[in-house]
Amino acid sequence: MLRIVVCVSGGGTNLQAIIDGIAQRTIANTQIVRVISNNKKAYALERAKKAGIEAVCVSPRDYETRERFNEAFVQEIDQAVPDLIVLAGFLVVIPPQLIRRYENRIINIHPSLIPSFCGTGYYGLKVHEAALARGVRITGATVHFVDEGTDTGPIIMQQAVAVLEGDTPETLQKRVMEEAEWVILPKSLNLIANGRVTVADGQVRIAE
Ligand code: GRF
Repeated sequence: MLRIVVCVSGGGTNLQAIIDGIAQRTIANTQIVRVISNNKKAYALERAKKAGIEAVCVSPRDYETRERFNEAFVQEIDQAVPDLIVLAGFLVVIPPQLIRRYENRIINIHPSLIPSFCGTGYYGLKVHEAALARGVRITGATVHFVDEGTDTGPIIMQQAVAVLEGDTPETLQKRVMEEAEWVILPKSLNLIANGRVTVADGQVRIAE
């Protein structure tokens, strides 16, 4: 059984896609053992509670320093004893000590085709605003392992999504979530749960 902790900051639609995938068995052999949010108001916490999953909030606002928050955050993760950490719309910088301890065991969903429109400052609607401003015809989403950089780890899966005439950042975000994020994050988890994903020399290999 793949034990996963899911870290969230907002609406939790990617978390919901994982919950539904486990219930529908399109994600095999996986259990969400804890949901952690930095945002007390995150609807994702409600989704977790409705699904009977332990949901905790660890907010930087409750700690005097970032270091103290990092320690508390890492402790919440460790206490859940996860095999894999999933960042699903999580907007907090991951503490370096966590990345070292869980090397190639943290994955993230980013709403663009990395290496486009990613890195510091590219999150949520800002990603889609940049894609529209650049005039790309194709965008999409990426699931990747998390390393010390921002959106720079080995890529597991990507899904392209067409940009349509008249798209706004909101309509584009919705299409990318529906057609890409909510598809490739569960698929990537299922591959990992079935032991088909390895990383060598910074490249992901998916066994047949
Ligand atoms: C979405 O823009 C998603 O692309 C990004 O975080 C935002 C919120 O996702 N990863 P969610 O609904 O909280 O999963």
